[in-house]
Amino acid sequence: MQKPPIKVAVSGAAGQICYSLLFRIANGDLLGADQPVILSLLDLPQAQQALKGVVMEIEDCAFPLLTGLTISDDAMTAFADVKYAILVGSRPRSKGMERADLLMANAAIFTTQGQALNAVANRDVKVLVVGNPANTNAYIAMKSAPDLPAENFSSMIRLDHNRSLSQLSQRLSVPSHAIEQMVVWGNHSPTMFPDIRFCTSNGVPIPSSPELSQWNEETFIPIVAQRGSAVIEARGHSSAASAANAAIDQMRDWISGTDGRWVSMGIASDGSYGIPEGLMFGVPVRCSAGSYHRIENLEISPFALEKIALSLHELVAERDAIAHLLPA
Ligand code: NAD
Ligand code: LMR
Repeated sequence: MQKPPIKVAVSGAAGQICYSLLFRIANGDLLGADQPVILSLLDLPQAQQALKGVVMEIEDCAFPLLTGLTISDDAMTAFADVKYAILVGSRPRSKGMERADLLMANAAIFTTQGQALNAVANRDVKVLVVGNPANTNAYIAMKSAPDLPAENFSSMIRLDHNRSLSQLSQRLSVPSHAIEQMVVWGNHSPTMFPDIRFCTSNGVPIPSSPELSQWNEETFIPIVAQRGSAVIEARGHSSAASAANAAIDQMRDWISGTDGRWVSMGIASDGSYGIPEGLMFGVPVRCSAGSYHRIENLEISPFALEKIALSLHELVAERDAIAHLLPA
């Protein structure tokens, strides 16, 4: 017998990430090959015409698992009863806009969307925020949804995690799947800290050497931190297919589990590793039975502490800049 369909909401549905993401969800890449899905798509009023074109293309794929498809420009409508929400839509930085202005513009969006999730989403809804600044947007949505568990909100750091796996696998000449225990700490911004200290390759710790240390500090960390800008520079647009792939990876693992493997997720801090409680911070987790579990008590070297502090201070500053917009 066929399973009942699950409703997945996606915002920013007419944008470039969703031009990859929606088709993959409809194909079963998020919830599995036997799970029917209903897509509930949200975008701005001025994007509805373009969104109708995307809908035509989704229809033209005749996806066997897609049992429903709706569009809306209203978060209360789009989020009604949703089990999973992927919040991609956000305000991009326009010419002359300061980072603080960007934070404010997005704070308004994610306050409204958090409130709508709080009011109408399934009480177990899992929310993944992709739209930048992703960590702080996720923090705002979480704080605007006081009736939903904070554990149900996450910000995307999986693209940075996947980028790190790819760079290290090229360095070691092994498939990316052979590498485990990668960690990306912090903010989805150039202050993030991709941390290879715990990595294993085919189950064996990677031998330390002066060459590896030099490569780590001079090549690996800067490449991963600047990868988003490098893609924009090369493509003329920010990453889209790889961002969609990372969103699928992060949400799928959260729902279905990681089989003991570590992944990085932006989650509300419980105060461990000196990260202020509630701050949405990239940390290593394992997922099982629909929950994430922090990897605890990892050793934090002086180098790691310095790196983590950079992201921490940046996120505290972002949090403080929007604090007045949130309920006390
Ligand atoms: P895009 O500009 O192509 O599309 C964004 C879409 O969001 C547009 O259709 C726009 O109309 C819509 N939108 C804007 N405000 C909205 C609102 N209030 N409600 C609903 N929809 C709204 O952008 P994109 O390339 O798809 O990227 C989307 C976001 O994802 C950007 O903020 C980008 O920086 C971010 N991003 C994050 C990561 C990550 O790793 N976290 C990676 C890549 C991109
Ligand atoms: C990325 O990491 O590719 C994006 O977050 C870059 C961006 O600014 O959209």
